[in-house]
Amino acid sequence: MRDKTKKESPKKEKIFLTQSYFKYPLPEEMLRELAEELKDINLYPSGGDYTELRQVLAKYVGVKIENILPTNGSDEVIEIVSRAFKGEVLIPIPTFSQYEASADRGGLSKILVNCLHDGEYTINYSAQQLKSASLIWICNPNNPTGTRIPREKIIDILQRAEGIVVVDECNYEYLGETIVDLIDKYENLIISRSFSKNYGLAGLRLGFAISNLQNIKKLAAFGQHFSVNRIAEKSAAKVLKYLDYYQEVWEKMKKLRDKFVWQINELGFSAYDSQANFVLVEFKDKKKTERVWKYLKEKGIYTLAGWENEFSGLGDQFIRFTIGEEWEMDKVVEVLFDYVKRN
Ligand SMILES: Cc1ncc(COP(=O)(O)O)c(C=O)c1O
Repeated sequence: MRDKTKKESPKKEKIFLTQSYFKYPLPEEMLRELAEELKDINLYPSGGDYTELRQVLAKYVGVKIENILPTNGSDEVIEIVSRAFKGEVLIPIPTFSQYEASADRGGLSKILVNCLHDGEYTINYSAQQLKSASLIWICNPNNPTGTRIPREKIIDILQRAEGIVVVDECNYEYLGETIVDLIDKYENLIISRSFSKNYGLAGLRLGFAISNLQNIKKLAAFGQHFSVNRIAEKSAAKVLKYLDYYQEVWEKMKKLRDKFVWQINELGFSAYDSQANFVLVEFKDKKKTERVWKYLKEKGIYTLAGWENEFSGLGDQFIRFTIGEEWEMDKVVEVLFDYVKRN
């Protein structure tokens, strides 16, 4: 029987391991159901308050409907918190570039805190920084290192911070750990989630914020009316019907990822253990990194290097690989094996 979680492997196709989107087939029945919604796109999304969508998301997450704000991708959560909580923002680098980009647009004053020392990513905000910042970022697991941030660490930051702490959980489904249960305990906690990475809806743009009613109201006031389109609005309930399928894919991806980390280390490079759908690899210096990156590109394999502006504070000696299909990862390892033999 055909494995539905596998794409047919067109061996000559270029391999894109750049953006960390979902690289597996989407359930065909779900796509058919979504397509049926097209006939209603003359209508606005339901009333603008997204009651049904918020009900679906609240049930999925295990909170009340009042704790949810649907957004145009989780990028919109990043954008509106940066408008709503002006002042000083703490950004734990290397990390996702949009915290910085939104801070710039919002006119916040940025403090980039280096959290990567000797191959270990640990969030190390000082007491003074936590006192003076209005907005504090934690990306869990962190992009691009893939590092899990321990729950105790997040609680410690929540307790010591004077400002709002936003925990970006856009890769929650791969990590399998959340702090959603803490939204009533810590009034300064906002969580952001996404349907892009784990459910394959990056092109539809569906994300959401989770927090207490007061914070949700404040964020809503800074967001745009009707920011989630009608098809995206309908998509959450539809994809969640296929949870079993997605769980199967996530498990498969995790196995491929862990095998890839092992293989890269066996080749003599240095791969970071990851809890997301990408792996960060460190090379000796920029020159060596460029050689590997170009060699991969010549063979039709596209990856993200540290100098490509996708991340804040990532050095030039790094390349991030998104985890794709098995044949794609096999091809990457084969090309890198070849590279090592020649150099
Ligand atoms: C850490 C992190 N947060 C948020 C996003 C934004 O994702 P989206 O707007 O598609 O939900 C991304 C996308 O790459 C990301 O890596």
